[in-house]
Amino acid sequence: MLTRVLRGKINIEVRAGLALLLDPPSRFDQRSGYNQNAMETFQSQLTRNLSEALAAAGFPKAGEVTPATDPRFGDYQSNVALVLGKQRGENPRKIAETIVANLDVTEISEQPSVAGAGFINFTLKREAVETKIAALIRDERLGVSRISSPKKIVVDFGSPNVAKPMHVGHIRSTFLGDALVRIAQFLGHDVIRDNHIGDWGTQFGMVIWGWKNLLNLEALKGDPIAELVRIYKETNERATKDEAVREAARAELVKLQSGDPENYSIWKQCVDLSMQEFSKAYELLDIHYDIVRGESFYNDRLPAVVDRLLQGGLAEISEGAVCVFFRDIPELADKPCIIRKSDGGYNYATTDLATVDYRINDLKANAIWYVVGAPQILHFKQIFAITRREGYNADFHHVSFGSILGADRKLMKTRSGENVPLRDLLKEGITRARAIIANKNPELAESERNEIAGIIGIGAIKYADLSQYRMTDYIFSWEKMLSLHGNTAPYLQNAYVRIRSIFRKAGATSVSQAPVLGDPAELNLAKRLGQFAEIVPQVLNDFRPNILANYLFELANSFHTFYEACPVLKADEPVRSSRLALCDLTGRVLQRGLKLLGIDVPEKM
Ligand code: ARG
Repeated sequence: MLTRVLRGKINIEVRAGLALLLDPPSRFDQRSGYNQNAMETFQSQLTRNLSEALAAAGFPKAGEVTPATDPRFGDYQSNVALVLGKQRGENPRKIAETIVANLDVTEISEQPSVAGAGFINFTLKREAVETKIAALIRDERLGVSRISSPKKIVVDFGSPNVAKPMHVGHIRSTFLGDALVRIAQFLGHDVIRDNHIGDWGTQFGMVIWGWKNLLNLEALKGDPIAELVRIYKETNERATKDEAVREAARAELVKLQSGDPENYSIWKQCVDLSMQEFSKAYELLDIHYDIVRGESFYNDRLPAVVDRLLQGGLAEISEGAVCVFFRDIPELADKPCIIRKSDGGYNYATTDLATVDYRINDLKANAIWYVVGAPQILHFKQIFAITRREGYNADFHHVSFGSILGADRKLMKTRSGENVPLRDLLKEGITRARAIIANKNPELAESERNEIAGIIGIGAIKYADLSQYRMTDYIFSWEKMLSLHGNTAPYLQNAYVRIRSIFRKAGATSVSQAPVLGDPAELNLAKRLGQFAEIVPQVLNDFRPNILANYLFELANSFHTFYEACPVLKADEPVRSSRLALCDLTGRVLQRGLKLLGIDVPEKM
């Protein structure tokens, strides 16, 4: 009972302390100019027209329209005739011709053509693109419509462990999770950002013993996490050699678990100190959480989880432990999940089961996304299998990801073989960015340079991560990520800066509300701008912010081609205003797109 009261109290205090660090739940930007009605994209309009044509021709209604793989064939294409041809054993070209004969796309496309083995190709009409651009200019959401059936989603991301430094392994989770949240919110989902910190567990026996016997208070003040890591490691080393230390650490853990006030206070100080450190990094990264429900929050709920699963017949006792078996799932058949050990202790999995219950029943979530590295794939398969059997009604996704490698292609480590602390990495990124800016633009004032260095340095690190497909391992390279050329944040930020400088040079300027796209480079850029609304929702199909990153890179390339081919400020009216409008819209899409990835843009660099 004492334990219960004490724990409840401490949890509240921890949370109250954290409240300072947390933003209120983000709400959608409700400023004026919002286009509440969906603005249909070219892709969805063509898809709709295609399915009407399929129905009219007596085919099943489903057919995909995708961006053309080769611009020589147009802007969009469909392989639906190839699919149907295969299914029916008929000539796909003939099917394609039948579909085209029933297809009415005159509003936006030239007459569709049939090419190759039976592809249907669409080329957008110039006037349709002009109309689209005029609409995008007026639209605060840049054409991106809200999802029709929003979900309440808990996104579990970052989730570092207390009394340990946040290392590069947490980077991907933190960046990926933050970007996914931003995109989900922009699309209209109701999202709760949850930091499931590792603040409970057997390591605290060692930490508390170390605290009582080895702590250097000065060092703790200077660099709390380093000191906590030091005492943990030293205790661990002693414990491997010395039975007495091992026993003593175990005893400290038992005391903590049974609510001993002194051990509780040490534990709480460790949590607070760690959170203070984490929050410094979050501050720098502009990453915020709505709630921080660490493992300790669920501690009191663990016995009930085990009871429930035992009573429901989902768990059984095996060699003194309580286990869930998955005999019917081949890949898990020989991998039972232990939810209570034979010594009575609970596992990581037990906590995750309690967490699911809390998120669904208390937070009323109907989707949970876990942004956690690939080594935990098996763990989440087990958790999801159990929750399925329990009948929880929600979408569960493990958004897993690969590793960050050093130049030697091995897991990134410091020279002494330690995990690289995130804080050091961010500092170095900012320092390097400052040097690059000082070189590029020596006239900038010191204060301005520092601010911009933060935007560029952090943007570069985030983008290097988010522009990769999440499952691939990537090599961490400062030279590459900070380069002003290539698929990097500084390149995109520079494109934005260039646009801003055009406007500074232009002075007071009006931009055209109805641009005319006379030059092929203008038309090409405009078509790209129209694709933003097609790309953003796609990110969530398979949790791939890299799709958005690559789109922004292509947009910046199209902008540079346009800028080289089409003089802006020297052009005569009305072309000048029209081109300025294209520049402005490009800047807005770059800025918004990068912001959805958690990356800012400077006005100068
Ligand atoms: N703290 C864990 C780690 O560092 C990640 C927690 C992920 N979330 C969860 N619900 N298990 O590995």
